[in-house]
Amino acid sequence: MTKDAQKTFTLTNNESGESWELPVVEGTYGPHCVDIRKLLSETGYITLDPSFTSTGSCKSKITYIDGDKGILLHRGYNIKELAEKSSYLEVCYLLLNGELPKKAELEEFTGHITMHTMIHEQVKAVYQGFRRDAHPMAIMCGVVGTMAAFYHDSLDIWDPEQRRISAHRLIAKVPTLAAMAMKYSKGQPYVHPRNDLNFAENFLHMCFSVPAEEYKLRPSLVKAMDRILILHADHEQNASTSTVRLAGSSQANPMACIASGITSLWGPAHGGANQSVLEMLDEIGSVDNIKEYIAKAKDKSDPFRLMGFGHRVYKNYDPRAEIMRESCHEVLDELGMKDDPQLKLAMELEKIALEDPYFVDRKLYPNVDFYSGIILKAMGFPVEMFTVLFAVSRTAGWISQWKEMMEEPSLRIGRPRQIYVGEAERPYVEMKKRK
Ligand code: CMC
Repeated sequence: MTKDAQKTFTLTNNESGESWELPVVEGTYGPHCVDIRKLLSETGYITLDPSFTSTGSCKSKITYIDGDKGILLHRGYNIKELAEKSSYLEVCYLLLNGELPKKAELEEFTGHITMHTMIHEQVKAVYQGFRRDAHPMAIMCGVVGTMAAFYHDSLDIWDPEQRRISAHRLIAKVPTLAAMAMKYSKGQPYVHPRNDLNFAENFLHMCFSVPAEEYKLRPSLVKAMDRILILHADHEQNASTSTVRLAGSSQANPMACIASGITSLWGPAHGGANQSVLEMLDEIGSVDNIKEYIAKAKDKSDPFRLMGFGHRVYKNYDPRAEIMRESCHEVLDELGMKDDPQLKLAMELEKIALEDPYFVDRKLYPNVDFYSGIILKAMGFPVEMFTVLFAVSRTAGWISQWKEMMEEPSLRIGRPRQIYVGEAERPYVEMKKRK
């Protein structure tokens, strides 16, 4: 609950001696905030914060991260409890609606999601336009945006019921689109969703079944899949979520907004890191080479970074990474891959990095992506699909954040300012006089 009360912050211009009282805003937890919305109109000044390290872009009730303590809460519930006790669809409901669902509410919600998993047949033609070797994230950027062309009846962003239907359609259909992207790149026929399966089971079925053989669902892998989905479902105002909110602030339709989130997630500094972790482990190759790569990561003249390490907000062990590490061991045990060389390499790398003063001083701990790639690979997903899986899960967070923003009475288009540092106005130079 915000206590937007009477505390103020005084800003003084040392040159002119003028000063201004700026309101202080406080949330339930987290840093105090100076409300600078009237700064420009009242002082003639703006602020500069290019990577938003000290800027709050919104008030939100959805997710809270205490980066120093390594705590992540969704609607007040700790991620560790959610990962242990809830299902992904329960977490989706929680993110969207603010409360954990009662039994009947969960049944109704699950029913809605299940009934929306199929994709319009014509969408298949969109896939044909992509090269077979296209990165599935490139396909996802396109096909998710394309959904706006197929579901006109839920695009009125001012109608709460249409917003609800769009949210359900996205949570239900993005997994189907993702599985189709995987099938397309493998040259296998698309596998239709099955209503008798739960969310995680259905996703694995759509990714791995083939007409010649139904995929055998293993409960421990289904549980791990569901957990991976829970752990990636939301993470407050990260790059992709902020992208979704900014796109949505222009009153763009929700399908377009989620497509914009997917583009932002793709980068290796964000969701693309899970793919990069595996590529890095491949490159390192063996425990003997770890020292060399740690040295590269510390060398400022070398662009190499230890992928899966570090986080803008967490200055402690990412709680999601802890759960993921546990799941990773469970899955590899179940698959008889306990001695997997990549897992051994990852564990040794983690151990060495956690003891190295460079990483200790900068509080660089493993993040959620460090172990997720190893699990996903063991499950049979190609590395290119890792970030797509992140997008499948994060769709719930993006659409919940979008919905929250759309419900704000004070919605205005997001429009950062800039410090112009280019040329001052100068006379036009005719072509023949240009040197
Ligand atoms: N390896 C080596 N050095 C690092 C790393 C790393 N992975 N991460 C940060 N540093 C250093 C960085 O060079 C800087 O050192 P110095 O103070 O000497 O200049 C210091 O630590 C602070 O780093 P920063 O770049 O200012 O931190 P940031 O908040 O801008 O970046 C990050 C956060 C996640 C982009 C970055 O830590 C990184 O590139 N990590 C690797 C990619 C990765 O694993 N990304 C997944 C993030 S979690 C999932 C998600 O949110 O999508």
